[in-house]
Amino acid sequence: MTQHLAAPSTGTSGDAPAHQTGWWQDAVIYQVYPRSFADGNGDGMGDLAGVRGRLPYLKDLGVDAVWLSPFYASPQADAGYDVADYRTIDPMFGTLLDADALIRDAHDLGLRIIVDLVPNHSSDRHEWFRRALAEGPGSALRERYHFRPGKGADGELPPNDWESIFGGPAWTRTTDPDGTPGDWYLHLFAPEQPDFNWEHPAVADEFRSILRFWLDMGVDGFRVDVAHGLVKAAGLPDLGSHDQLKLLGNDVMPFFDQDGVHEIYRSWRIILDEYPEKKGPGGPSSEGRWWATGGRILVAEAWTPTVERTANYVRPDEMHQAFNFQYLSTAWDAAELRKVIDTSLDAMRPVGAPTTWVLSNHDVTRHTTRFANPPGLGTQIRTAGDRDLGLRRARAATLLMLALPGSAYVYQGEELGLPDVTDLPDEVRQDPSFFRAEGQDGFRDGCRVPIPWTRDGSSYGFGDGGSWLPQPEGWGELSVQAQTGEEGSTLELYRSAIAARRAHPGLGAGASVEWLGAPEGLLIFARPGFVCTVNTTGRPVRIPVRGNVLLSSSPVVTDGAEIELPADTTVWWTV
Ligand code: NOJ
Repeated sequence: MTQHLAAPSTGTSGDAPAHQTGWWQDAVIYQVYPRSFADGNGDGMGDLAGVRGRLPYLKDLGVDAVWLSPFYASPQADAGYDVADYRTIDPMFGTLLDADALIRDAHDLGLRIIVDLVPNHSSDRHEWFRRALAEGPGSALRERYHFRPGKGADGELPPNDWESIFGGPAWTRTTDPDGTPGDWYLHLFAPEQPDFNWEHPAVADEFRSILRFWLDMGVDGFRVDVAHGLVKAAGLPDLGSHDQLKLLGNDVMPFFDQDGVHEIYRSWRIILDEYPEKKGPGGPSSEGRWWATGGRILVAEAWTPTVERTANYVRPDEMHQAFNFQYLSTAWDAAELRKVIDTSLDAMRPVGAPTTWVLSNHDVTRHTTRFANPPGLGTQIRTAGDRDLGLRRARAATLLMLALPGSAYVYQGEELGLPDVTDLPDEVRQDPSFFRAEGQDGFRDGCRVPIPWTRDGSSYGFGDGGSWLPQPEGWGELSVQAQTGEEGSTLELYRSAIAARRAHPGLGAGASVEWLGAPEGLLIFARPGFVCTVNTTGRPVRIPVRGNVLLSSSPVVTDGAEIELPADTTVWWTV
């Protein structure tokens, strides 16, 4: 029996209602960005065969589950977040047989698989949209998207003032089959990503069927892309502001976080709960937990103005987890960190869902680089900053994150301490927002550079055929090979921390932390059987010894009653 699948944390998460408990409560979930993880066929692009070959690495790292960014058939206008067919695999990533083999192998190793679901929009190459355009005005398929006549004398102006998240208007004008300018369609992201009209029953039916397709394939859950965007305010009203960027994330918008989205997730939850928990090798555990229904999860990617609004997505009859983007955006500052930790825990407690923690993903600057720069630069940063400082803080931030109650997300390569590649030449960039955002944002390619597995060799072991984005020189020194077994390496720090979390379930359990008195710039808090001390200042600070050092993000020496906590360092103590 593998310890991974058989450990729902019911016994340790005392403050969550029973219906919300399960393996995900304190899980460490690893994000694989398939095109940049490992290339199995040597074409320079990562693929499912590559991921499958590296599952033992993930098992060894100790994570509970793997979330894969989209691998479906797609023209790749937004790296797969533009899906043309939700039930097939893009040939660049493999086949359905590869997906099946990957899911089976993962389960054999005791790893769960979460796939990405993209329900807010399809690709403009999706059959519905292609036919909607080809059939012209009056096509019934147009009702499954948002087609509208333009404003102005000849319909030459967009139907409303909404802007695309990637920059420019959120509307594109179509050309009718007879060659004359026609209606406009809505796309909150790139023009190649038309938004579905979720008021149309065929859209809801289709996604229920897609959920079942992947649940039947055996997946353990879905990360739901733009979960806050599916429902738009009735009548698609103007925003009335020319500063949409400022409002985004700070206000409820007519196209984001509308209350109607919750009904959709309640209907999805019913479907997930019908499915039995996936069985791993060796049959049910002695407690018989594996045969329980449920165990398949929904995770919301919902950028909302407050953690309280995020909590709405994880009420007991909706999703299981939601990303905590407020945490991801917090500066390396004790007071700010304490505040966001408290607010996050307080917001989730009433709904009984686990709080989640995340520092990096494929849309934002890696936290090593974020912390290497001054605060306040946002989540897409163009400067490398002070690399040593960034790595030191990133390691400390990771130990802090993994000592908090709830579930933690790790983005591929952060366990190697990879920085963002901030000097990619413009001509190799592929992020659509880079081309539309006019210099405001659009630097997501920097965190998507294929990861190094070996010191040398073609693309540092990523694959035999180079890599779709150039890897910087010296990348091999950060590779898995270079760091494996290396005392003090970032990879070994992650391995030890995740193993310690598994060995001491108290670390991830519960829904609260007990703050202890701490000098300015430090965080000191108790967890069952542990104390965690974090020095966010740039200077060493002497504090009383708290027990036995279990793990520290930089070397520490205790001499009797006191310890000098180095700058930007986290220490875990057993008490
Ligand atoms: C969020 C995804 O994480 C991002 O990569 C994508 O561009 C947008 N949603 C649109 O699907």
